[in-house]
Amino acid sequence: MSTTHFGFESVDESDKAQRVRGVFDSVASRYDLMNDLMSMGLHRAWKAYTVMVANVGEGSKVLDIAGGTGDLALAFARKVGASGEVVHTDINEAMLRTGRDRLLDAGVVLPTLVCDAEKLPFPDNHFDVVTVAFGLRNMTHKDKALAEMARVLKPGGRLLVLEFSKVAAPLAKAYDWYSFNVLPRIGQWVAKDGASYKYLAESIRVHPDQATLKAMMKTAGFGHVDVHNLSAGVVALHVGIKC
Ligand SMILES: C[S@@+](CC[C@H](N)C(=O)[O-])C[C@H]1O[C@@H](n2cnc3c(N)ncnc32)[C@H](O)[C@@H]1O
Repeated sequence: MSTTHFGFESVDESDKAQRVRGVFDSVASRYDLMNDLMSMGLHRAWKAYTVMVANVGEGSKVLDIAGGTGDLALAFARKVGASGEVVHTDINEAMLRTGRDRLLDAGVVLPTLVCDAEKLPFPDNHFDVVTVAFGLRNMTHKDKALAEMARVLKPGGRLLVLEFSKVAAPLAKAYDWYSFNVLPRIGQWVAKDGASYKYLAESIRVHPDQATLKAMMKTAGFGHVDVHNLSAGVVALHVGIKC
């Protein structure tokens, strides 16, 4: 049997999805508050930048994968207008329900679908833009998921992967201190779950760095990939064009 990472732990591949599910079942109701606290609001700027780079217009078809509580889906829904389509998806029902409720409260009704990024239930060549924010890191077979994202995009369509990445060397020590000492404590205090936020810090360290993810996207069928480092590489936005 093959093994994979769950944070710093090595686990059987067949167990990872269940462990990840446990994390997001546990934090779903406090997820948005935790995002604001942990990133000191920066996640809003990273997502706004992603939406700006995506540059979707009226009538575009957009798929948000691992969409969770719906930040990107909501922003895209406002851009594509009545003639467009935004599909909000996630493997986790608790995250998706929280997101759907938020969208409804904002007066936005979207197709909301529980699905695994590794087996997308959409036809080939369907979407203009696919996005995945802070989700790829949690997937067991990232290569499969990236290939699925390429499959459902139209030729010339774009994939935007917003994800934690490798921080610039001068900041590494301070960032490690914050990640391993402060984050789990905030998680324990606010979400009553320090372990899930320890997983978050660890999962970032074992996620492919900027150059490795770029190479993986090229292998998956993205002929051109640009990398935008945000906040000194704490986060990177990879933009791939299917060609
Ligand atoms: C950190 S949250 C990100 C939520 C949202 N995109 C955001 O940026 O706030 C990661 C999400 O990835 C989802 N996820 C993990 N593995 C997945 C998979 N194989 N397919 C689809 N979603 C997955 C989780 O359920 C979780 O909601």
